[in-house]
Amino acid sequence: MEKRVKVAPSILAANLLNLGETLSKIEKEADLLHIDIMDGHFVPNLSFGPKLVSDIKRSFPELLLEVHLMVEDPSFWVERFIEHGADILIFHWEAERHPLRLIRSIKEKSKKGGLAFNPATMWESATLILPEVDYVLMMSVDPGFSGQSFIPWVVSKVESIRKFRDERGLCFEIVVDGGITPFNAPLLREAGATVLVGGASVFYESDPVLAIKALRGE
Ligand code: DX5
Ligand code: ZN
Repeated sequence: MEKRVKVAPSILAANLLNLGETLSKIEKEADLLHIDIMDGHFVPNLSFGPKLVSDIKRSFPELLLEVHLMVEDPSFWVERFIEHGADILIFHWEAERHPLRLIRSIKEKSKKGGLAFNPATMWESATLILPEVDYVLMMSVDPGFSGQSFIPWVVSKVESIRKFRDERGLCFEIVVDGGITPFNAPLLREAGATVLVGGASVFYESDPVLAIKALRGE
């Protein structure tokens, strides 16, 4: 039987004035918590720094924190986010000159390491190092903002990386991020996604717990 898809709510879309209360509500239902880090250079937006990660980790030690680094020079930031409690560090293939070295240094610190690909980037260029990664994140919008429209042709990228993963006997998670709703989630589950990130579709809803279940198809 297919494994149940995981859902990673993205706090970029949450009302930060009520973040603690909101996280208490979803703590048991979320499989991971997705935290978008933006530096105003790799993407045209700013978001959070390491302190928010350590504050969340202190109050919600059970939540697995998936830090999505949309930054230039990710190797500089990886260390800081690990020190502040990140469990999973995902950086952009487009931003790092030495991705293999960075994946290995994350794993040496007993954390999970992942690669993210913008919609227009061919994941095939990373084939050689995929056996060493724990997460592959396919962007289904151009990164930078919550609430953008899903790019439908990313579904075929998800299908092709799932096929590659299964044929090689690899076991990295396949995360899809951007514009995911209960309407396109079934297509992504079918295509082989193992983690769905939900920003607006979780936090703009009046009941975020039901919204997470809806992305799982429950
Ligand atoms: C976009 C971020 C996403 C974003 C998703 O750059 O990487 O994680 O928060 O938000 P929605 O689901 O609203 O597109
Ligand atoms: Zn993200």
